This record gives sequence, C-alpha cells and structure tokens, in this order.
Amino acid sequence: MCGIVGYVGPRQASDVLIGGLARLEYRGYDSAGVAIIGENGLDIVRRVGKLVNLTGAVAETPVPGTIGIGHTRWATHGRPSEENAHPHADCTGRVAVVHNGIIENYVELREELAATGHMLRSETDTETIAHLIESYYDGDLVAAVSSAIKRLDGSYALAVMHLDHPGMMVAARKDSPLIIGIGEGENVVASDIPAVLEYTREVLILNDDQIATVSGDAVRVTTLDGHEVGAPEMLHVEWDLEAAEKGGFEDFMLKEIFEQPKAIRETLRGRMCEGEIQLSELDMAPEQVARIGRVYIIACGTSFHAGMISKTIIEQWARVPVEVEVSSEFRYSDPIIDDDTLVVAITQSGETADTLAGVREARDRGAKVIAITNVVGSRVTRESDGVIYTHAGPEIGVAATKTFTAQIAALYVLALKLAQAKGALPQERIEHLWSELSRMPEIVETILEDIDGLKECGARYVGASSSLFLGRGIGVPVAMEGALKLKEISYIHAEAYPAGEMKHGPIALITEGMPIVVVATQGHTYEKVVSNIQEVRARGAQVIAVATHGDDEIHRHAEHILYVPATAESLSAIPATIPLQLLSYYIAKARGCNVDQPRNLAKSVTVE
Ligand code: G6P
Repeated sequence: MCGIVGYVGPRQASDVLIGGLARLEYRGYDSAGVAIIGENGLDIVRRVGKLVNLTGAVAETPVPGTIGIGHTRWATHGRPSEENAHPHADCTGRVAVVHNGIIENYVELREELAATGHMLRSETDTETIAHLIESYYDGDLVAAVSSAIKRLDGSYALAVMHLDHPGMMVAARKDSPLIIGIGEGENVVASDIPAVLEYTREVLILNDDQIATVSGDAVRVTTLDGHEVGAPEMLHVEWDLEAAEKGGFEDFMLKEIFEQPKAIRETLRGRMCEGEIQLSELDMAPEQVARIGRVYIIACGTSFHAGMISKTIIEQWARVPVEVEVSSEFRYSDPIIDDDTLVVAITQSGETADTLAGVREARDRGAKVIAITNVVGSRVTRESDGVIYTHAGPEIGVAATKTFTAQIAALYVLALKLAQAKGALPQERIEHLWSELSRMPEIVETILEDIDGLKECGARYVGASSSLFLGRGIGVPVAMEGALKLKEISYIHAEAYPAGEMKHGPIALITEGMPIVVVATQGHTYEKVVSNIQEVRARGAQVIAVATHGDDEIHRHAEHILYVPATAESLSAIPATIPLQLLSYYIAKARGCNVDQPRNLAKSVTVE
C-alpha cells in the first residue's frame, strides 16, 4: 500500500519521481507528493487525488533539483487531503519523509512529541517519524533515522532527506517492501521494481531492520546499530519495462486478460517429465509428501478464490482434506496444525500483510509453508519454506486477472503432485488430466478470439445496480471471483451464492430485469443448475449463463449465453472465469469507470 520513490543523481528529480510514481500508482492513488532539494532549499508539493493532479502542479511550477522523494498514497490514518499527503516535514521544514506501512504506536508518539513542543500538522502516523528524526538529529542523519525507527512499532518503508545533506537520502524498512535500483552515477529507491527499470535492472533488496545511505554514486547498507552489511542481497531483473506497459491495449486490465494463455503456459512449463509431476520447490522427500494429512490454504481477495477452487481439486484428486481461510481470519483462528499439515500461502504480490502474518503464524506452529506468488524476491518468498512461482509477468491492473488463472494452473500442478505422491489417482488418469491441463492455453485463446458477444452483453447491463452470481461445485468460487471483479471495477453490487442455497435468502432480492450470472458449464450438477436458473427466471431475472460449446438446450433458459470450450469438469474453472472477467470489464468500461485503478482499492495491501 502506498508507493515510494526516491532519486539521487544527475537528472531532474521531479521527472524521475513522477515517472516512478506513475508506475506505482497501482499501490494507491488517494494523493501524491514530492519533496525536492534544490538551490532554494527543500520544496514540497502535494496534491489530493490521482498523480495527474501533482503532475499538473509540477508542470506549472517546476521544482528544480537532483535529489528528491515522492509518494502515492492509499489512505490509512487520516482522510485523503493535502495535509495528510506525503512527504511530511518536521517543525523546521528541513526533514522530509515518505512512508509506506502503519505505525501502530503513533498516538503515543504524537502525544509525546506534542508535549515536547512539536507542531504536528496532519492526522497521519507518518508525520511522527519526521518529528522523531528532528528530535534525534545532531548532524548525523543516519543515526537520527536509526534512533527514530527504534521507537516505531509496526511496519514501514521509508525514504528520508535532510536539507543539511543535499546529496544523500536515507532509506529503511521493516515489513513493507523497499528496493534500490543501482544505476551508473544515480540510484533510485522504490517500493517496487517497475519504478526503477527505466534506469537499471540491477536491484538491491533492502531487508528488514537495514538502513541504506544512498548517494548518486554509492549505496551503503548497515544494520540499525551501524554495522556494515557485507553483501546486500542483489537481483538482476529479467523483464523489461515494455512488459509492464500497455502494449497497444486500452487498459492494463484488458492487456492482462489477453496475456492469460501465455501466463498459464509459462506456469505449466516443465511440470511433467516422464510421467512424473515436477514440483521440486516443495523440497520434500516423496514419503513426506505422501504423509501430508491436511492442507491449509491462506490468501486474500482473488487469491482466496484460487484457493477455494483448489480445495475442490485437491480433495477430489489427492483425497486430502483442505481448509481455506482468508489470511486475516486464519491468523487469529487458533488453527489446528501439526507436523503433517502443509500450509499454502497464495499471494500474487507476495507482500500482502495479512497473508505474511498468516505465514509466520503457521510456521510458528510447526507447519511447512509453501508460497504461490508472482513476484520474484517478494517478502513471502523469504518467509516460506518453498516457493512455487506463477510466471504471469508483472500485473499492473489493480483487479487481478492473469495472475488468478496462473495461480489456478499452479494449484492444479500441486494437486496432481499430491495425488501422485499419495497414489490417490491411477497413473493413466494423472497423465490424462495433465494433457487436458496442457490444452488450457489454447482453450483460453479460443475464448479470447471471439469476444463481440461479451461486449454487447456488457453494454446491456450498464444500468444495473445489483446482481447475483450463482454456481455449484467448482462453479461457486468461479462465481465469487466473477462477482468480485464486477463490484471492484464497475461498482455494481454483486453477490455470489451457491446456486442451491440461493432460495434460502438471496431469492428475495430478485426484481424484474435483475442480471443473474450463472456458471452452467457441463458437469454432474448441470441439471440442478438449470433448475436454479428456472427459479430465478420465474421471478423476472435476466440470466447470463456461462455454458459449454454444444449445449443448445441452455438457449431455452437464458437471455445471454457465454460459451466456453468443453473440458474436464474439474478443469473448467479457468475457462469459465475468462468470460466473467471480460463481462465485468465491458460493463465497467460502458459505465466510464477506470478499470485499472478502481476507487478505494490498491493492488498490494501491505497493512493488516
Ligand atoms: C488486493 C488486490 C486484489 C488481490 C488482493 C490479494 O485486494 O486489490 O486484487 O487479490 O489484494 O493480493 P495478493 O497480492 O496477496 O494476491
């Protein structure tokens, strides 16, 4: 949550900061600001709302200088306003701070600072950091930052500047991401890699409780007690900026929907060799895998829905009981975990605070934790026993699409691995399922080749205010993901329900013309789903059905049919998801919504 950029080098800092913030805007966009040290001192410019407001202000009144820090905010403490926007300054206006995270003891710190005469001007937790640094400063900025952060409870990624040190900035982190792009004669501090890629592919990953002193030609990393960190962790980034840009599509979301065949293909690549499912990342001997007696899946948002889909699959294929919990609940639920429990943490970003807290809880209780993530080097990769990467490439649209189907692909592989290790499925069945799974990229391509019907269907429901999404079996989490996409990007109320349960409540919501999306692909409950469709139509609903090619019968029951190619029922989650993503996309576009940056949301939620 919140994006940070810092620059020091020969260029005009404002250009680098605004360019970097644009690439981090997915982390929040309630306000944005920059602080730059130039000939006239330390200038801070902040604006409420999206980055474009700040860009306009800086274009009108340029802020010259070659060192600066910038921030794009997702509000936690204090409403989105100019006073609460970062960077924050101390009383003297000589210290500037940008922060991502939450300072949990900020009320206490504010009181202490106010009692000693500090003037706090915002409602934020961050401002306390600037004043703490002011109070500890005696000419040594690194020492002052170090003393200040020793007082903080909570999470932070910070970039700090002081007018007395116009050639350096100080960066530090704990439980919030921060990296440093190492350029030639210039360095860029940032919350995430896309912000530095224009300048370098060599990235230093700052770890918790480390402080970096960054100038144009050097980066020095020390511990909080000032000991030099000999070999800071480095990463060479393979993907380029173009991969993170729109590539001719109107929005990142649409581009990412169309990248799904590739994302799935890359995620499945190399996972079957001579009849054996390859998953060395589990780092477990075959007997250990065979002994797994229970799987816990923890995740948030869209990743949680991928977890729910895999529950059905793992239970069916491997006959292992699976619990799926949203991470924020898991952590406080006193979970039943023993040596034979495998915990799978699914997180696209690898930085979701609730999921990371769940990982720590699980490991404290002795579970083996495997992460499924899309971001190399992300926090979850350091905190888990093993990592399965989805190879979806960077996802910029806030609403997850390609990373969701890539997660499902990775989870299918995990389910097959467990089934094989436990001998729960005959070898021929495993090979058959694998060959069906390998067809998934082409199946998705087929759906994406013909989307005109989806566009028309989307345009018809532009005025809807409420909707229901129904399914049975694996169709339930697919419906949940469909409903989540619609509410996230179009702001239409959408509720997902198991189709059979709908008559116990949501049926009361149905009014004439209400759109009801039903996952009605072929499967063992198809007839029951059709009966549920009849129940809602009898009450005036307009049914949009996701159905299997060749199902002509469905025309008698639904106003709109979104066809997907036939596949094994257990593998139908991926194909059934694609039309629901596109339906939400076209409805949201027809309503004039910003699909890449929906209101109030952020792509990576690094606060609990
Ligand atoms: C936020 C995003 C969602 C995402 C969820 C979990 O809410 O807006 O798109 O599904 O976080 O994120 P993760 O990175 O842990 O998968």
